[in-house]
Amino acid sequence: MLVLALESSCDDTSVAILKDGSSVLSNIVASQDDIHSLYGGIVPELASRKHIENVIPVMETALKKANTTIEEIDAFAVTMRPGLVGSILIGLNFIKSVAYATGKPYVGVNHIEAHALSAFLSNEREAEVTPQKNFVESKELKFPFVSLVVSGGHTTLFFVKDFDDLSVLGQTRDDAAGEAFDKVAKLLGLGYPGGPIIDKLAKEGDPKAYEFKRSYIKKGNLEFSFSGLKTGVLNVVKGIEAAGRVLTDLDKKNIAASFQESAVDVLVKKALWAAEEVGVTSIVCAGGVACNSRLREKLRVATKEIGLSLFIPKPKYCSDNGAMIGLLGFELLKRGKRAGLDLNAEPS
Ligand code: KG4
Ligand code: ZN
Repeated sequence: MLVLALESSCDDTSVAILKDGSSVLSNIVASQDDIHSLYGGIVPELASRKHIENVIPVMETALKKANTTIEEIDAFAVTMRPGLVGSILIGLNFIKSVAYATGKPYVGVNHIEAHALSAFLSNEREAEVTPQKNFVESKELKFPFVSLVVSGGHTTLFFVKDFDDLSVLGQTRDDAAGEAFDKVAKLLGLGYPGGPIIDKLAKEGDPKAYEFKRSYIKKGNLEFSFSGLKTGVLNVVKGIEAAGRVLTDLDKKNIAASFQESAVDVLVKKALWAAEEVGVTSIVCAGGVACNSRLREKLRVATKEIGLSLFIPKPKYCSDNGAMIGLLGFELLKRGKRAGLDLNAEPS
């Protein structure tokens, strides 16, 4: 079964073609970073307009790369929540039109749930490469598991029992983890998106230079909060400026490393607590922030220490992509789910 999937909930337009669910024939992403970086964050109206320009060329490229045509597609999947309502509407109405015109079914997919399940796309455990064992150890991901979704808009711990059976164990009460990375980068004058920049800069900084707050760090509490951490960074920056100094490159590296260490610490601890609480032996980490090298490393060490399996998708499937929408869309279609032409976009 060939599924064409479209993701347009935020600032990336992505179309993927999947064969029988998890085999990705193509996954094309048109990024808008160059537009939004001028403003230090996403401008919703500009994002919608760019989706309109991108959607047809991206779909045509995805079909070409998969060596197929629109007539050969059996069904469609599209993100219908959550995200920027204007952006979702562009993708949703586009897919509705194509499904109507071709007479094929389509389903709406929850973007966050698609992130939570995206580790099925690259069914490989994080590499444990040693001189004696010079290969990537493979292990199949099986239900149930805990999935930590860390993105620009969400920080959610899911208990995942099946493709259509996810429950929320905890989530952020204020900023999402990615949002905190983006805001801290903005505070330090580093550009957008902030996550990859902080990740790179932190490698040259001292993670112990500043002791930033770790919120709700009481065993069993699976809620997150990152706004206090962001304020902590703001206070350090203000303190340096009040002392009549300008932020040096070393200050920025140390702040980036200390901030990242605090955010990652909390994420790792809570993912492990969640696994313990529901009694699972596998943890998935997904979403844009799952590209973070320190988070990947700390999760790898922590899960290995207590004998849990860890699944983190390849970076291209952590940030927004059509493939994860196609994977969940396929599973929903397989279970008989079909959307009507009255399906609406839901921002939250
Ligand atoms: O999942 P995603 O692509 O889009 C949303 O659904 O939000 O996540 C984007 C977020 C941004 O906040 C970005 O700064 C963050 O993921 N991000 C990172 C890294 N790469 C992307 N955060 C930390 N470290 C990274 N290496
Ligand atoms: Zn996302």
